[in-house]
Amino acid sequence: MSKPAADAPVDLAAIPQRTLYTGARMPAIGLGTFGSDHVTANEIAESVKGAAAVGYRHFDCASVYGNEPEIGASCEEILRGGIRRNDLWITSKLWNDKHGEDDVIASCRQSLADLRLRYLDLYLVHWPFPNFHPPGCDAASRSPDAKPYVHENFMKTWRRMEELVDMGMVRHIGTSNMTIPKLKLLLRDARIKPAVNEMELHPHFQQPELFKFVLDNGMQPIGFCPIGSPGRPERDRTPEDTAPTEDPAIVNIARRHGIHPAAVCIKWAVQRGQTPIPFSVHHYRANLEGIVSDPLTSGEMRAIAAIDRNCRLIKGQVFLWKEGQSWEDLWDLNGEITPP
Ligand SMILES: NC(=O)c1ccc[n+]([C@@H]2O[C@H](COP(=O)([O-])OP(=O)(O)OC[C@H]3O[C@@H](n4cnc5c(N)ncnc54)[C@H](OP(=O)(O)O)[C@@H]3O)[C@@H](O)[C@H]2O)c1
Repeated sequence: MSKPAADAPVDLAAIPQRTLYTGARMPAIGLGTFGSDHVTANEIAESVKGAAAVGYRHFDCASVYGNEPEIGASCEEILRGGIRRNDLWITSKLWNDKHGEDDVIASCRQSLADLRLRYLDLYLVHWPFPNFHPPGCDAASRSPDAKPYVHENFMKTWRRMEELVDMGMVRHIGTSNMTIPKLKLLLRDARIKPAVNEMELHPHFQQPELFKFVLDNGMQPIGFCPIGSPGRPERDRTPEDTAPTEDPAIVNIARRHGIHPAAVCIKWAVQRGQTPIPFSVHHYRANLEGIVSDPLTSGEMRAIAAIDRNCRLIKGQVFLWKEGQSWEDLWDLNGEITPP
């Protein structure tokens, strides 16, 4: 059999899909679009087009990434090129300064206008904290108006999210950066329950408990920073952080399969049952090819399960709401929502 040409698209039928509780199918890999403050909006918009050409159909966007207008031009071109809208999966997210009851619908409308779409497949509340900080600020930056998580307030935001579904502006709604105690309250009170929870997931931060909770409650886990975010901004780096792509277990498996350690992280993520959304302007093709090539063995899957280091990279310090707190307070580590 002749080998497919180097620029031929990956076989779409081979790309795994996740079935959401609504019955909708979401591609089990998406392209991340946060340029970490050093990749320009135009470069990312080019990657979106390039990724669609090789077979990506799922794109993880957000208003705060500051590039939805450029990505919108790419979406228009992709659709004009013959890919049907219902074969694309486009996610966007409500930023933290738009949790107000009058802001949610307007903010979604703006993302739709920027992305040049009539509807989104998925709209997420980006963080459960309504705390605004300027883009690019450092980890020590605190908003004087920062607030803790207050469930009644979050539900006011969620009611507007539900309205977006009623209005046909979005097909699914979901959460991001939630914890089990917060999700329990939301699942109790939601009229339309979240279809997904987007969360940090990579071999050094596997979050087994939250991962299981999300699946057991009929949601899909979408995994951000699936490669360990090697290009993340300085403000998201601490000396304790580790790099999954440098882990000997990952490096050995990569050598065995003849692929980059980053591609091993993506293969593992898809095989484990999460939906990774790797960012890439140079390697998106390799990541997609990786998930349709020979799978990791059960021994390799076990070897990766054993290297979890509980190493959270995106700690969220800027969301802290009072002096003297540490980032752990954002993540309800003792099983209860951290009191105000
Ligand atoms: N919901 C949230 O709060 C949240 C938070 C963080 C991130 N996210 C989303 O998750 C996405 C992914 O996270 P991320 O961008 O922080 O990190 P990531 O996907 O873990 O890492 C991206 C980096 O890995 C490199 N890379 C990708 N594939 C590679 C390969 N096969 N070989 C070598 N290097 C490779 C990329 O370089 P090249 O560009 O050179 O290929 C880029 O520097 C974001 O873009 C965003 O959409 C969401």
